[in-house]
Amino acid sequence: MTPDIEERITEKRKPSHEIHPIFTERWSPRALERDMTEEDLMALFEAARWAPSSYNNQSWRFLYSTYQDDEWKVFKDLMNDFNTKWAEKGFALVLIASKTTFDHNGEESITNSFDTGAAWENLALEAARRDLVAHGMQGFDYKKARELLEIPEEFKVEAMIAIGSKGDESSLLEDMQVKPNGRKELEEIVTKGKFSF
Ligand SMILES: Cc1cc2nc3c(=O)[nH]c(=O)nc-3n(C[C@H](O)[C@H](O)[C@H](O)COP(=O)(O)O)c2cc1C
Repeated sequence: MTPDIEERITEKRKPSHEIHPIFTERWSPRALERDMTEEDLMALFEAARWAPSSYNNQSWRFLYSTYQDDEWKVFKDLMNDFNTKWAEKGFALVLIASKTTFDHNGEESITNSFDTGAAWENLALEAARRDLVAHGMQGFDYKKARELLEIPEEFKVEAMIAIGSKGDESSLLEDMQVKPNGRKELEEIVTKGKFSF
């Protein structure tokens, strides 16, 4: 990370209460490189695996391709043009799906997306801890993903992730460069009692 970006992180990302620094250090740059291994990638999935879920249903599923695999083109071609430009420089592309029913009784799950979101964040935090990038994406063709990756109807296509080592953000075209951003104030998202936003 360049000192300039480090400065911007601390400037924009000041928590209002004392929390572990990993939460504010995780962010979503677009400058990706390939200085990592498939073993590193497996460690990210391992972190995801330990997320909590309703009935321990573990609805999350991760389909992936590294840039060295035959499937790479299929994953790459799912993304819109903008995302392809930066994400194809990374080490791996991941498609996240969630099972919409419970394993134990086949009934509909209400929290499959919620639980899978927790797993994704585990993965992203472990990536940050290793100074790797895990950048979430919704800019891809959900229908095509289901078709080409043969995802059954019982599973919801949730999102994609671009994963890689950190590159130099200033090497990207200006409209692609991303700066560490801030967050809504606590009062805007938390209330005691009834809905009052
Ligand atoms: C589910 C999801 C979808 C996203 N889709 C895209 C995307 O298609 N393209 C992109 O450049 N960034 C995408 N992002 C990145 C968000 O813009 C980013 O996470 C948000 O601005 C917060 O910034 P931070 O992750 O740096 O804290 C996505 C993030 C998430 C979690």
